Amino acid sequence: MIKNIAVLTSGGDAPGMNAAIAAVVKTALSNGIKPFVVKDGYRGLVNNDLEEVDLKFAQNILSKGGTVIGSARLPEFKEEKVREKAIANLKKRKIEALVVIGGDGSYQGAEKLTKMGINCIGIPGTIDNDIVSSDLTIGFDTALNTVVRSIDQIRDTIESHNRCMVVEIMGNGCGDLTLYGATATGAEIFSTKESFLSEDEIVAETKRLKSINHRSVVVAVAEQLFDSHALAKRIQAESGYETRATILGHIQRGGTPTAMERYWATHFGIFAVNELLKGNGGLYIGLSENKIVARDIESTLNAARKNKSEEYNAIRKINRGN
Ligand code: ADP
Ligand code: F6P
Repeated sequence: MIKNIAVLTSGGDAPGMNAAIAAVVKTALSNGIKPFVVKDGYRGLVNNDLEEVDLKFAQNILSKGGTVIGSARLPEFKEEKVREKAIANLKKRKIEALVVIGGDGSYQGAEKLTKMGINCIGIPGTIDNDIVSSDLTIGFDTALNTVVRSIDQIRDTIESHNRCMVVEIMGNGCGDLTLYGATATGAEIFSTKESFLSEDEIVAETKRLKSINHRSVVVAVAEQLFDSHALAKRIQAESGYETRATILGHIQRGGTPTAMERYWATHFGIFAVNELLKGNGGLYIGLSENKIVARDIESTLNAARKNKSEEYNAIRKINRGN
């Protein structure tokens, strides 16, 4: 049986990561295993920045946003020589297994470490909800609530002033925060990579809304698609709506994790340690039809994204403002 395990968080931080860390540490301790935390993701593994923790460390962190053990991006981790240093540091401390909380980039590192002799289990931690074979990722629900709260507040002011607002939403190539945010706020217009409305189409739609005297318009756009300020200027020039742009940005990443986030993160943490106890590695944990499942990392990296076009169409149909 394994005696020592470590946990790290990698990639963009996400609310709920601390609940997963707490669950990993507590589950390890309750099984007589020594838990270690790694500082700042894969960088801590390479720089030998690890420490053994106790129950006190894990108490009362689950309600905190961010990640108390730090996160980082380390592109050099793709190089085998760099990963060899990480393996050597783990072996020095007799750490036989690792839980990696992060997104699909982090999973690739975990998969490679497993092949190099350290069993790794990945827990989906990213606000983007872009792990295709899990119904949710830790951080998504909290970020979505932030998006919804922000758009609700924007609605108060644009409704008062008869305006339009372009709201740019993070998600790194995944439109879920924009789609779910638009659904939960009744945004009249929304565009993502998966269901793209061009600048011309967005402007034409704002003109139509102006022609029927629609009072306020939210244009929710996923990041990396448009220059939001330029789009706002064009909407103002062509539709007649006074228009501004708000980029939500990193506000989406912080904040107190929601109850559901903590719930699933805790169960993911328990599940991950149990998989390691069974001697498994190279797996990620996901949620499938409300059940936690463990699948091999390779299959999740190659899985096709769910087609949500029916959902997009249904929400567009009811949010058109007439
Ligand atoms: P996320 O895990 O949120 O998708 P990134 O894509 O930035 O975030 O990946 C986080 C980290 O995972 C990277 O900075 C790097 O250290 C590691 N990583 C990403 N891709 C690979 C890969 N192909 N091989 C090894 N490590 C990787
Ligand atoms: O993956 C999380 C995320 O917040 C994405 O939504 C966004 O594109 C990216 O990270 C931003 O990265 P950084 O914090 O490095 O600016």
